Amino acid sequence: MAMDGVLKLYFGESNIPTPEYIKRAAQKAMADGFTFYTENAGLPSLRQALARYYQELHGVELDPLGEFVITASGVQALNLGIRCVLDPGDEALVLTPAWPNGASNVALANAVALEIPQPLIGDRYGIDFNALEAAVTPHTRMLLYTSPSNPLGWVATVDDQRQLLDFARRHKLWLIADEVYERLNYTGPKPTTPAPTILKLATRDDAVIVIQSFSKAYCMTGWRLGWLVGRRDLVARATQLNEFVVSHAPSFGQRAGETALLWGETALCEMLIRLKENRDFCLAALANMPGVTVPKPDGAFYLFPKIKGAEDSFDFCKRLLMETKVGLAPGVAFGSGGEGSVRICYAAERSVLEEAMTRIAAFLK
Ligand SMILES: Cc1ncc(COP(=O)(O)O)c(C=O)c1O
Repeated sequence: MAMDGVLKLYFGESNIPTPEYIKRAAQKAMADGFTFYTENAGLPSLRQALARYYQELHGVELDPLGEFVITASGVQALNLGIRCVLDPGDEALVLTPAWPNGASNVALANAVALEIPQPLIGDRYGIDFNALEAAVTPHTRMLLYTSPSNPLGWVATVDDQRQLLDFARRHKLWLIADEVYERLNYTGPKPTTPAPTILKLATRDDAVIVIQSFSKAYCMTGWRLGWLVGRRDLVARATQLNEFVVSHAPSFGQRAGETALLWGETALCEMLIRLKENRDFCLAALANMPGVTVPKPDGAFYLFPKIKGAEDSFDFCKRLLMETKVGLAPGVAFGSGGEGSVRICYAAERSVLEEAMTRIAAFLK
């Protein structure tokens, strides 16, 4: 972090600053007096805006006042959801490689995370349902998956989701879907077509929780604003729990979130076109490098190539950093199935990506 001149492709954020109209909305909210406490579940107007958003984007009807909690980030939503469903000693199944905060939050709840690696079948990641079945014990309470996935870029199809939901219903587990990258999906007919949400398949009585955030779609990582969707009884508990954690997300940020939902599509579309070009550029560059195998990701903004010589991915990333000043995230950080790969975030400027690919190619040679 202290090294100068590093090409930083290790973080999970875009280089684009928050769009001006969102910043102005926060300034206006402050001027309008949104500087006081709000409800623990968040401003009713933001929950209503989110219910409209789900209706327009997915045709899913949600009760704004009974099925949402606004949180101070996606990771806080993950923390609330997990703490609501796990008791000490419980077990949770987590599809990996995955952003490590899911398993860490399970550990914080004094529960045990069992990592189930997603196998690469041909050029697409799959779900190992045999391994999931074998891992269930009388203590298993939940299954966490991430779609679009960080770091794999895998996007669960409707069929994948149906099987996950069936599995969770059959074993009476909570199904937690981290859908933070929902809008970064490259498989739809339009650039802004979202990845499928589990909320479309699940009934409102299913034990399903969706984790969401403003960070990735609206370039609002530093704002700390997210939300959780869930069954009414879970949402009531998560709302109570929120009181003791942060009480609620910042008031003026919540107002700015409403504006982001309302006017965000144009900026989002521009960003998605650029991200897809970046993905394709990096994929082509990596395809020419010796010993590199890289599946084409369908969502998020990461590539997760397997590299011959990176069997110790931490050591590989350290050497790459010291010798070339290119910063990547070692695959081992993403749990079971991650070792031997590295994560490249391609949400940087094209000039940075070009230089980074040149240096990685020279290093591998
Ligand atoms: C899979 C996943 N979920 C959740 C988050 C949390 O995002 P935030 O806490 O910024 O809302 C991240 C951030 O990198 C992520 O990669």
